[in-house]
Amino acid sequence: MRMSSLPVTALSAILFFAVQPFSSQAQDVALTPPMGWNSWNYFAEKVDDPGVRAAADQIVASGMKDAGYIYVNIDDTWEGQRDSNGVLHTNAKFPDMKALADYVHSKGLKIGIYSSPGPKTCAGYEGSLGHEEQDAQLYAAWGIDYLKYDLCSFIPEVMEKQAPNDPPAQMRLMHAAYTKMWKALKATGRPIVFSLCQYGWDAVWEWAPSVGGNLWRTTGDIQPNMYSIYANMSLQAGLASYASPGHWNDPDMLEVGNGELTPAENRAHFSMWAMLAAPLLAGNDLTHMKPEIRDILTNRDVIAIDQDKLGKQGSRAYVDGEVEVWTRNLSGGALAVAVLNTGDTRYSTHPFHLYLSRFGLHGPQKARDLWTGKEMELSEGMALELSSHDVLLLRIAVPK
Ligand code: GLA
Repeated sequence: MRMSSLPVTALSAILFFAVQPFSSQAQDVALTPPMGWNSWNYFAEKVDDPGVRAAADQIVASGMKDAGYIYVNIDDTWEGQRDSNGVLHTNAKFPDMKALADYVHSKGLKIGIYSSPGPKTCAGYEGSLGHEEQDAQLYAAWGIDYLKYDLCSFIPEVMEKQAPNDPPAQMRLMHAAYTKMWKALKATGRPIVFSLCQYGWDAVWEWAPSVGGNLWRTTGDIQPNMYSIYANMSLQAGLASYASPGHWNDPDMLEVGNGELTPAENRAHFSMWAMLAAPLLAGNDLTHMKPEIRDILTNRDVIAIDQDKLGKQGSRAYVDGEVEVWTRNLSGGALAVAVLNTGDTRYSTHPFHLYLSRFGLHGPQKARDLWTGKEMELSEGMALELSSHDVLLLRIAVPK
């Protein structure tokens, strides 16, 4: 039966029941921080259809899928031109987005895409300004499950042009732009994770959930070096109360396996993102991933910290010179503790001393080292040796 031949009351009943389940589905995405892969950090503008298929294949073959990595996210530079009806087409690197989405789905994975509320994306490709509903419908028709929405040209082209020298008015324009895309996504009826990328402007953690954000970048772009990783990590201190199931602070995608990061630095980066309940979006070349990088990305114990169902982000418990101690409350009353050596030149001549009492524990504690898998006993003031930029990540099942 065609919809138009139904009486109005029957039609409203159908619409009511069609729309209702979606509202609950929409709240059900990203109940734990999204895990997957994103093309930008390694491939940047070189991302293409075969590369995304290869990433999906590798997520399965490497065991990453079994470890929880589900989203295969295409970042910037997939966009082509709009036709005379305003419909956006892919560029030559992506001949058939629907077929690509079907392929990713056939692997039991989900697929993400990228756009901007401005006229152009950060890399100068076509943005969604004025075509929000049309683009959201297109994503849904392709079967897209995740959208990263990156402010970029909206700043000069809309905020600065429409509200020159008026930052509060500019921020309101920005909030409205994110709300507009959220409504457009909701109207599709498809659950789509909504990832805000506007670098933390205007205390985004305070308002992102009200514009539909499931995660929101809190910083500028990460780089594959420990200074950038540490800077982004530090900016999460004080944001723990804003994270909860469905709503996550995003210190940016992973650089594990990229650049010149040492094994210690890769471990530290991954451990700290887990402590922060951060999205775990691998950003490396999965096809040429070394086994030691795969082992880091698939460490189940560390992933279990990140994905803990309580969704409580960790906090910096104390700092002693170059050593930082972060703690995270986990379900079942357990506690994760990360001890991070941020220094470049600290040696065993000056070991670090761990003071359990500084985060409320009293007396010896049994803990598991999540990188060696060994059980250990912690005691007040115990000496710890950590090489430069390395981490000790512990799980205390029954803290006392
Ligand atoms: C911005 C974002 C990056 C990436 C690029 C793509 O810089 O912050 O994560 O998406 O745009 O152009």
